[in-house]
Amino acid sequence: MPDSIQNEVVEYRAFTSDDIPAAHALSMSVKWRHRADDWRFAARLGRGLAAVAQNGELAGTALAFEFGAEAATVGMFIVSPEHQHHGIGRGLLTRLMDRLGSRLLLVHASEDGRPLCESLGLEHLGTIHQHQGAAFQPPLVSLPPGERLRPIGAKDTPRLAALASRAGGLDRTELMPALLDVSSGIALDRDGELIGFALFRRFGDGHVIGPVVAPESADQNRAKALISYWLASNAGMFVRVDTPARFGLSSWLEGLGLPLVDTIEQMALNGPPPADDTLRQFALTSQAVW
Ligand SMILES: CC(C)(COP(=O)(O)OP(=O)(O)OC[C@H]1O[C@@H](n2cnc3c(N)ncnc32)[C@H](O)[C@@H]1OP(=O)(O)O)[C@@H](O)C(=O)NCCC(=O)NCCS
Repeated sequence: MPDSIQNEVVEYRAFTSDDIPAAHALSMSVKWRHRADDWRFAARLGRGLAAVAQNGELAGTALAFEFGAEAATVGMFIVSPEHQHHGIGRGLLTRLMDRLGSRLLLVHASEDGRPLCESLGLEHLGTIHQHQGAAFQPPLVSLPPGERLRPIGAKDTPRLAALASRAGGLDRTELMPALLDVSSGIALDRDGELIGFALFRRFGDGHVIGPVVAPESADQNRAKALISYWLASNAGMFVRVDTPARFGLSSWLEGLGLPLVDTIEQMALNGPPPADDTLRQFALTSQAVW
């Protein structure tokens, strides 16, 4: 239905897979590194809106990702530079918020998106540090006695979903199988019990390590060992890790040759998510799906 907001009339309609080529061009226009495949993955998991300008061009997108009945994240939220500041971002976000009702709503807000999120009542939860690079030096990290890394197998999926759900406070039952379709995984095993893991997948013009889930410990060596595993087996490749600043891995990542390139705010309405404090999600899956 056409809708007039401030000074630009756009049509808001459901985002479909036919929008992916134009959405890919849109994300490149704001310098996001997503490939068309990354959009396909997002569109498979999320349901969202396209804002279409009067000349038929895709002016903006926002996708919502639902986690169980209680929570949702919003991502792939972009308005093309020539259409920004005309109320389209607000139009997209408010429509998704109406649809999501009283759910816990989570957004990784960029500097551009922060004022809008604040004006819609979202509150700051914390800061994410985006580290990336190709010239890194993976260290050897020792694990506590009885713990070792092993490949993950098909039978591990329910356990991975349960650990990720507890660590981040979002129901990952549906996300995990889809994520494993496009990821490789390494598990942290303690005396035969899977207690943590790290996934690794193609993203943008390189790879991303995430999610990384492990029990909390003072030295964070479990998370470091999981991340180091993927760095050691991909030396010289472009790798990205998005980590919550409060978990203190940033200086270690910098020291390995993965500089901090951006910070992003975690914002929530009706939050924060009910995470289990004995477990930590040390790295995001992605900014869109947390
Ligand atoms: C964030 C983004 C989607 C906002 O889209 P938009 O269509 O320009 O947003 P709106 O015109 O609806 O503006 C919403 C409000 O935020 C403010 N705002 C928008 N962009 C801003 C900016 N760059 N700096 C400061 N304030 C800004 C506007 O003043 C407006 O306030 P108002 O409603 O009180 O007038 C757009 O800037 C964008 O695509 N940025 C690059 C991609 C990105 O960072 N996406 C992640 C967003 S979380």
